[in-house]
Amino acid sequence: MIAMTDRIGFGLLGTGLVAPFHAKSLLNSEKGALIAAAEVSPERLGKFTGEFGCAGYASLEAMLEDPAIQVVNILTPNHLHYDAVVQCAAAGKHMLVEKPPAMSLREVDAMTALCARAGVKIGVVLQCRVRKPIQAMKRALAAGRFGRILHADAYMKWFRAESYYHMDAWRSSRRSGAGVTIQHAFHYIDLLQYLMGPVTQVLARMSNLAHPSVELEDTLLAMVDFQNGAQGIVEASTALWPGTDIRIEVNGTDGTAIMVGERMATWTFTDERPEDDEIRTYGSASVSTGATGPADFAFFDHQTVIEDMVDAIRDDRDPVIPLTSVRPTLEWALAMYQSAKAGGTVALPVLDEEAIWETAAAT
Ligand SMILES: NC(=O)c1ccc[n+]([C@@H]2O[C@H](COP(=O)([O-])OP(=O)(O)OC[C@H]3O[C@@H](n4cnc5c(N)ncnc54)[C@H](O)[C@@H]3O)[C@@H](O)[C@H]2O)c1
Repeated sequence: MIAMTDRIGFGLLGTGLVAPFHAKSLLNSEKGALIAAAEVSPERLGKFTGEFGCAGYASLEAMLEDPAIQVVNILTPNHLHYDAVVQCAAAGKHMLVEKPPAMSLREVDAMTALCARAGVKIGVVLQCRVRKPIQAMKRALAAGRFGRILHADAYMKWFRAESYYHMDAWRSSRRSGAGVTIQHAFHYIDLLQYLMGPVTQVLARMSNLAHPSVELEDTLLAMVDFQNGAQGIVEASTALWPGTDIRIEVNGTDGTAIMVGERMATWTFTDERPEDDEIRTYGSASVSTGATGPADFAFFDHQTVIEDMVDAIRDDRDPVIPLTSVRPTLEWALAMYQSAKAGGTVALPVLDEEAIWETAAAT
């Protein structure tokens, strides 16, 4: 048994929907300790500290005074991440920020510079990257096993009831970071970016198919060109009842890999190798990955990302998902909003990003 004092202390900012996943990860961990949570809603804070047995603070400022906290996990609505990062960096705390890390490239660049100046680490909670099938695909791509890469696609056919968008005010506010592209599909756009590298251009269409009470896109269709010569599709929706497992597909001249949910569904190469049989067993069909509801997923990927931050601090290295590695994902997502609004193909880099959140991209 590792003593509490050997663990790295974590404080959670925000005790809403995702916070229990962080709390359970820490309570289940021998590396990190849940010290406290900070929350503006006294009711939510009281319920959370009672359930998870940690200290409670009414503000981030108060929590930052706690010397036992070395890492702050930023679990507030998307548009509030930036201000929290500024405060945490000034207080010398390391950070794990939930996805999307911020609402603009300008904010991401400022966050990166602030953290470097303060000498603190900042990682992003895009926990799907650490899934074993994705890591296997990444290794196979690096080893050239796919041959010439032809296609890389993400399919997210999910369902969220109309009531989901009214649980909290920010969930129906474009300026707060709501919308299927920047909110839900961000994980899978990120997986394609992580696996395939830079995007050169994108053609996107956004629509609202089944949530008439909100002015947001609940559905994204996009065609993308990657710098490596491959093309791809992103299809993402929260309108498709009852919601089915996501699919990430990579096809090359010499191989095909498909992750469904969190399991390796297809893993076939012209050069079959001894390790391939084991890789085909990765993941489980019985683990939920968010298709049917906002809290319908397991916490162990969060735990991996959180424990990696402990190791990153101890080894003085970058976290597994550094903020800088997510900048291209945000840029691609922003380009899709620009494309949907303009009704045509948008080439990267993204210019005029300030205008993106001014008007709705979907009708
Ligand atoms: N990685 C994942 O799989 C995953 C899943 C769900 C949500 N998220 C992300 O987590 C973040 C939070 O999402 P959520 O669904 O938990 O939202 P939520 O609205 O349920 O919770 C956010 C909480 O932050 C609190 N809050 C707001 N401003 C605050 C402040 N200044 N100080 C302290 N507390 C404050 C709110 O009162 C609320 O309780 C979002 O960025 C979202 O995209 C990630």
